[in-house]
Amino acid sequence: MKTERESLGSRLGFILLSAGCAIGLGNVWRFPYITGKYGGGAFVLIYLIFLVILGAPIMVMEFAIGRASKKNIGGALKALEPKGTKWHWYGHIAIVGNYLLMMFYTTVTGWLISYIFSTAKGDLSGLTPAEVGGHFTHILSTPGPMIFWMILAVTIAMFVVGRGLQNGVEKVTKIMMSALIALMVILAVNSCFLDGAAEGLNFYLKPDFLGMAEYGVDTVIFAAMGQAFFTLSLGIGAMAVFGSYIEKDHSLTGESLRVIGLDTFVAIVSGLIIFPACSAFNISPDSGPSLIFVTLPNIFNQMNGGILWGSLFFVFMSFAALSTLLAVFENIISYWMDVWLFSRKKACIMNFFLIIVLSLPCILGFNVWSDFQPLGSGTGVLDLEDFFVSTTLLPLGSMIFLLFCCIERYGWGFKNFTAEADEGKGPKFPRWTRLYVSYILPFIVLFIFIQGYITTFSKL
Ligand code: PHE
Repeated sequence: MKTERESLGSRLGFILLSAGCAIGLGNVWRFPYITGKYGGGAFVLIYLIFLVILGAPIMVMEFAIGRASKKNIGGALKALEPKGTKWHWYGHIAIVGNYLLMMFYTTVTGWLISYIFSTAKGDLSGLTPAEVGGHFTHILSTPGPMIFWMILAVTIAMFVVGRGLQNGVEKVTKIMMSALIALMVILAVNSCFLDGAAEGLNFYLKPDFLGMAEYGVDTVIFAAMGQAFFTLSLGIGAMAVFGSYIEKDHSLTGESLRVIGLDTFVAIVSGLIIFPACSAFNISPDSGPSLIFVTLPNIFNQMNGGILWGSLFFVFMSFAALSTLLAVFENIISYWMDVWLFSRKKACIMNFFLIIVLSLPCILGFNVWSDFQPLGSGTGVLDLEDFFVSTTLLPLGSMIFLLFCCIERYGWGFKNFTAEADEGKGPKFPRWTRLYVSYILPFIVLFIFIQGYITTFSKL
């Protein structure tokens, strides 16, 4: 027996859920550390441009594909494609992309949750910077506790998804996103009023193009483009599913701009929390991925009330990560419900175990399998999974969505796409962009894809 497809309770629910999917480690962790690495303000500026010219059209397309088909990406392309075409193959690959993303996201979310406890308990207080570094290295070297925290993250998220779309995912995401925004404003105000904050603000907000040129302009531009896909969750149907849960009363261009606005707000404010704090305590913000797990705990150690600020910071980080887990789990569960006609409960139970097992390689990659360095020395399973998602499937999928929405006879076509996107109140998809989205954007995306491979493999 097939019950009626669920839908979201409110427009706010839709916007916050999509924003919850977009807002995640990409905003609160990846964005600040790449910005730190590539020299601050100039990178931020380029990134903002790409959000608009690259991210926005593709997000409208994903939402339109979801809303027109009323299906998960696993079935959406099939529902819309002309007879005899093979676009729908990508639907299943996109879901594999969702799993691949979760295979490392659950572990990092687990670290964040564990840091709430270790910070609140004062485990990190009074340690020297080297000892704080040692704490993180110790976490990575012991699979047992990491598996525990990962399972906790999966359990929380799957429990919420199991409660249903409106009663679980929508309700909890609304609460988490509101708390996240409130928390981050408080944290940012605290950081910006520290003595010595100005220097960090300067680094972060004042574009220094000469400084950027040192890294190679092309490297910085590709990093900004990749970050735009990742942070907006584009290319693997994670956004499309929320389109499939809404009515046609608001235009999708307007809704996409709102989601992008929220996502950008959170990324920018994360920087306002991190950079002033770094300069206030004379710590360089360019430490890469260890920024939030090593650099920041060191800063909280020196700050007045550091235990409180530190714990709040990790609560905020965990909410960002958990809201993405919820959204992506919802996408995975809806795939099993739409395509394989599972009940929500059955899909949740099966995926609970599946995702835990799939998350193990990432954890073991840091210890038991640390000799496996697939992408060059120092890399591990996480890097490989991230490569499949961020360097491969996000650009590839985005290109497929673009072509699907722009190719008239063999695809869904620009007419159908814009008709869907424009239904409802709000700004329409600008027609003058047709040439750009049909003939230029696909090449830009292809270029990003190829460049990603070149950069990765030239390091080997
Ligand atoms: N946008 C998420 C983040 O910033 C990551 C993500 C990518 C989620 C792709 C879903 C799909 O953390």
